[in-house]
Amino acid sequence: MSTGAVGVVGAGTMGAGIAQVAALAGHRVLLLDAASGRAAAAVADVGRALDRLVARGRVDADRADAARERLAPAASIADLADCVLVVEAAAEQLDVKQQVMAALEDVVAPTCVLATNTSSLSITDVAAGMRHPGRLVGMHFFNPAPAMRLVEVVSGTATDPDVAARVAALATAWGKTPVQVASSPGFVVNRVARPFYGEALAALEEDTGLDAATVDAVLREAGRFPMGPLELTDLIGQDVNLATSRSVWEQLGRDPRYAPSRVQEALVEAGTLGRKTGRGFYRHDDGSPRPRPSTAPPAVAPEKVVVRGDWGPWTSLWERVEEVGVGVLADARPGPRDAHRFEPVAEVDGGLLVPTDGRTAADRAAAAGVPVVVLDLALDPRTATRFAVAASPGCPREVLDAVVGLLQATGAAVTVLPDRPGLLVARTVAVLVDEAAAVADEGIADPADVDTALRLGAGYPLGPLEWGDRTGPARVAAVLDAVAAATGSDRYRVSPALRRASTTGGALRGH
Ligand SMILES: NC(=O)c1ccc[n+]([C@@H]2O[C@H](COP(=O)([O-])OP(=O)(O)OC[C@H]3O[C@@H](n4cnc5c(N)ncnc54)[C@H](O)[C@@H]3O)[C@@H](O)[C@H]2O)c1
Repeated sequence: MSTGAVGVVGAGTMGAGIAQVAALAGHRVLLLDAASGRAAAAVADVGRALDRLVARGRVDADRADAARERLAPAASIADLADCVLVVEAAAEQLDVKQQVMAALEDVVAPTCVLATNTSSLSITDVAAGMRHPGRLVGMHFFNPAPAMRLVEVVSGTATDPDVAARVAALATAWGKTPVQVASSPGFVVNRVARPFYGEALAALEEDTGLDAATVDAVLREAGRFPMGPLELTDLIGQDVNLATSRSVWEQLGRDPRYAPSRVQEALVEAGTLGRKTGRGFYRHDDGSPRPRPSTAPPAVAPEKVVVRGDWGPWTSLWERVEEVGVGVLADARPGPRDAHRFEPVAEVDGGLLVPTDGRTAADRAAAAGVPVVVLDLALDPRTATRFAVAASPGCPREVLDAVVGLLQATGAAVTVLPDRPGLLVARTVAVLVDEAAAVADEGIADPADVDTALRLGAGYPLGPLEWGDRTGPARVAAVLDAVAAATGSDRYRVSPALRRASTTGGALRGH
């Protein structure tokens, strides 16, 4: 398979990108499309894409010329008879894909591998009716195919393991990073990523006044996701993102955990689909500046804080605070009213700053008997450019100002959020960790592959399972339990896999 001809059926966005990748990797590539002239147009598009790569010094001119010569439009399916692999990237409809496979089986050799780039259909369903279903495998590229490294190699119940292994080896030879996935709703990336959008949409649906720019800024600047979830839905298209959510929700038996968002449905009904229509959560049409996230005005840092307990993933905050000249007095005594748990607290001007454990600041203040400010999770408190906090009701201004000043002294911006359980980053990360743990536990992919898939396919700064291990599975489960108790929502039920790791102290991923 490593040198034979490759066919690509469907010469749209994905087909053209896949053809480019295969041609650059040294294959003769034939592009076929049902719409007349489309395959030839795609060949010309790939030619221009190669020119741009040459101009940017990414590909040398000889290699681009050779790739261009290897790429040609096909006139009919019969032209694909000699292919060793055909990748289907036609319309996302089961009947279309089944018809393409039936037509291909009539012309190709028995040894030819057939792949589908479907992002939501079951590989088992696409293979139903094939004479040799063992030769069908999912080869799920991400958009844009030439740039995105991840390929999910998806096996249905009939897929020959040797076929999946050969396709994975081929993807590696094409410069991609394959992960092996068992066919299931959303595969790995589109399933585990659902709560990333779902949590942000849920935050907007609450009656707390949170706005898109603030949600996105906190996830980007504290969570270190490359894009905020809401701006990302504007880029993907609200209709496309909603359709993926709906598909996963339907296929998983309408589990409320994956329920589509009313806010997003309203955007789609209004035709405000994001960048492609000029308007979604943001305006993209009139050159007006992006709305600013809610950011606290400058406040004065206290001279010193007394820090107690194990701050876990927040520990490095205190090194950073100390480096900017605030006195950090470490005190090994247990925190107030919690003598057995050594609860992490920092005394700041008569109030307490605490890292989130999922409970609201109101609940923490009621338990501690003093005003409390809760700190949201940051991927790396040493380098975060924004911290998010929430204050208990009636928290004196000077306590909140002292906390804000303390965090601002690091050079980071501070957002004061509404007092919601689990705040934004901790809650989002907790649901991602839980979903990833469930996917690995269900045997859909190996834990390491789940992490690779989310890093490369969704651009997450850390694989969710590694993030869960760094944060501590027990801490992640506690956040979900507290959010479940506060909201009464089934969305936050802890998966058996996370519950096990949190009680046994085992790792989600293992290193
Ligand atoms: N766009 C993405 O981000 C993305 C990412 C991963 C996977 N996918 C999947 O890849 C496939 C293609 O998506 P796309 O975005 O490139 O779509 P597209 O609409 O850009 O292209 C589809 C092409 O297939 C052609 N086509 C339709 N039916 C055909 C048939 N029976 N035979 C031959 N050609 C046919 C159409 O004329 C069109 O040119 C879909 O299954 C989609 O779910 C898309």
